[in-house]
Amino acid sequence: MRWMVYPLTSGKVKPWAGGESGCGKSTTGRTILQLYKPTAGHVYYNGTDLTTLKRENMRKMRREMQMIFQDPYASLNPRMTVEDIIGEPLAVHGVASGKEIKEQVENLLNLVKLNPAFASRYPHEFSGGQRQRIGVARALALQPSLIICDEPISAWMYPSRRRWLICSRICSPNSI
Ligand SMILES: Nc1ncnc2c1ncn2[C@@H]1O[C@H](COP(=O)(O)OP(=O)(O)O)[C@@H](O)[C@H]1O
Ligand SMILES: [Mg+2]
Repeated sequence: MRWMVYPLTSGKVKPWAGGESGCGKSTTGRTILQLYKPTAGHVYYNGTDLTTLKRENMRKMRREMQMIFQDPYASLNPRMTVEDIIGEPLAVHGVASGKEIKEQVENLLNLVKLNPAFASRYPHEFSGGQRQRIGVARALALQPSLIICDEPISAWMYPSRRRWLICSRICSPNSI
């Protein structure tokens, strides 16, 4: 890839990458968020070059930028409960603690249509679609300004158009 410019509008869900399996969609998403370091080139977001940011500044930036991962089996820590998985970003960034985290996790589970009583369960107790919902809830926890969705609800049991509508709705800024 030589370059890519993608204008984003606040509060909108936009499709931005297509192509056959293996063409590099997931790699591009991970590189934008600096989960992979590019071997060459730069990534600019709101005028900031993410590739040269110091670790501490990138940590702050991560609060604004989240990813919903494609693979619901590999992306959730099997040793953490759902509550810990979804609440972790809130704790790590010092946004909430204790009871507040519990409450926010409950809200997020409701939002992605999972029973809040599941909070104490572990990822292996869920189907692929349910795991993706947990990943969606985690990505939404910090109310980031950018969410990169890598086939975020491909395992949900809905036809693709319906899935798209659901995704648009849950990612809209007023949904939480
Ligand atoms: N620009 C690139 N240069 C080299 N290898 C790449 C590049 N983009 C993707 N790959 C490799 O191709 C494979 C599939 O990429 P991936 O991003 O998972 O594709 P997709 O999500 O479109 O199915 C991965 O092994 C990845 O490391
Ligand atoms: Mg992919």
